[in-house]
Amino acid sequence: MNILITAGPTREFLDPVRFISNPATGTLGYLIAAKAALLGHSVTLVTGPTFLKIPDGVIAVRVTGALEMRDEVLNRFPFADALIMTAAVSDWRPVQRFSEKLKLKKPWNLKLIPNPDILKAVARIKRKNQVVIGFALETESLVENGWKKLKEKKLDMIVVNDLYNFGQGNTNSAIFILHRDGTMKDCTGFSKARLASYLLTLLDRSGNPIYLTVCKKKGGK
Ligand code: CTP
Repeated sequence: MNILITAGPTREFLDPVRFISNPATGTLGYLIAAKAALLGHSVTLVTGPTFLKIPDGVIAVRVTGALEMRDEVLNRFPFADALIMTAAVSDWRPVQRFSEKLKLKKPWNLKLIPNPDILKAVARIKRKNQVVIGFALETESLVENGWKKLKEKKLDMIVVNDLYNFGQGNTNSAIFILHRDGTMKDCTGFSKARLASYLLTLLDRSGNPIYLTVCKKKGGK
């Protein structure tokens, strides 16, 4: 399969030396990319800034901001069998990027505008035989918010986890995989490596693109 993976944070610069971002490390996306390449898939990793090494056999496309990530994903998605969107895309960017270093010593207001939603743009060009998996980090009502995002972004699956899985991860972290057919799997306690391997077992090219192997029926779409 051709698998497109996004990972890491995005950085939204307000001047040449300052940006807004988030603490995502890219760990899970890189683990999925490494594992997928080992399994023999053709893997492209669109990555925001991280200190991680590009896994062997993976084509890396380095990006900085959300707009750049969107362009790279939309250009490559038509050639992909699956998109695994682990990136922690910054929800906003400064309205203006100043070309010189800001030297303001007084309080001032920074105006932010929303970044486009990459997954929603993907949903508009998605073909039936393509699989799209999103991720969500939630601080409350994990499963409820997960179902909402799965629907809004027209995803095949979404992996929802709590704050404890941010960064290097934590094996006590709550993790749920929700499927568009209404089934879900509780993966609480999975390490990031185990989650990466498990997710790849959910990609299947034989007609019905993905399914959850062990799951609890959650009542319809
Ligand atoms: N995502 C995206 N484009 C954005 C923001 C997020 O494609 N501009 C993707 C992420 O890569 C992730 C999924 O959408 O796979 C959910 O991200 P999240 O930040 O939880 O979603 P938001 O819609 O931004 O919701 P929230 O308001 O909770 O931040």
